[in-house]
Amino acid sequence: MSEPEIDRLALEQLAGLLLERAGLKITPDGYYGLRMALKARMPALGISDSQEYVRRLKQLAGEQELRALLPLVTVGKTDFFRDTRQFGGLESVLMPALLKESRQTGRPVRIWSAGCATGEEPYSLSMVALEQGAQPGEVDIWATDLNPLAVETAAQGLFPLRRMGGVSEARQDRFFTPEDGGFRVRPDVKALIRFEGHNLASPVFPGVAPESLDLILCRNVIIYFDQPTIQRLMDRFWEALRPGGVLLLGYSESLFRLPTRFEMFELEGTFAYRRALPGAPLRRPHSKAPAAQARPTPAVGTMTARA
Ligand SMILES: C[S@@+](CC[C@H](N)C(=O)[O-])C[C@H]1O[C@@H](n2cnc3c(N)ncnc32)[C@H](O)[C@@H]1O
Repeated sequence: MSEPEIDRLALEQLAGLLLERAGLKITPDGYYGLRMALKARMPALGISDSQEYVRRLKQLAGEQELRALLPLVTVGKTDFFRDTRQFGGLESVLMPALLKESRQTGRPVRIWSAGCATGEEPYSLSMVALEQGAQPGEVDIWATDLNPLAVETAAQGLFPLRRMGGVSEARQDRFFTPEDGGFRVRPDVKALIRFEGHNLASPVFPGVAPESLDLILCRNVIIYFDQPTIQRLMDRFWEALRPGGVLLLGYSESLFRLPTRFEMFELEGTFAYRRALPGAPLRRPHSKAPAAQARPTPAVGTMTARA
């Protein structure tokens, strides 16, 4: 089949559809990427007319094609222990406090890694919990992503050497077994995690009970979303967190200028958000852009991967 013809109108319609269905914000600057994705998908469906592709996507059966297209237009870059300062805060402040509370109350620590890509983030969380003595059943990490391929890869837990950059030798020895030139996470690391497909832009979150979560990591995900989608998502996150529960965003993301019920606090030199305890005075997110949220020094030798 010859190169498919892709017209501007189809790209605009597609950008509108991706915004509506997945909350993805694709500006004309991103049309090149969209065009490349179409060039991959149209021949796979035997379609040469971009308008026909858009029509196909709009049909009921288009849901399946949407799932095939989305991984091509969202970037799943991730690392183990990504953002060393944030993980420092998790290790020294958040995880010890959550485990202590869980041991006092007998209630498991509930964490959501929302937009987990290929799993490096939830596996890093699990390793931190195990290092602090978490027992099976004591920590529940729900790891979700829109991209089914990423979720499948994450659930396999087998990582090539080039993706192991953020993992120290000690952690590699303790939590991985060498396999086929790569490294497989050990069953105890996996046992704390549940992997699932989930669209953060969907209007309802069945399966997320109000006030049920202690910690949500949604890092480097909302950069793809338009403002109304971010607003709705933050409202849902706030409702899902128990009072005192914490939300961590990516280093380039903030709730600056967004009406939000979250209060901001400093966590080991980075900013984090919290659902305030009832009665506590609310400290609003900064009225000016947070300077300390500037890019932290990346871990030496970290490797990056695309889902
Ligand atoms: C850059 S990765 C971030 C991975 C990890 N949180 C981290 O910070 O390393 C962004 C992930 O968000 C996912 N994503 C994008 N839109 C989404 C949506 N509407 N619902 C759920 N996940 C989404 C992408 O599939 C991708 O895997």
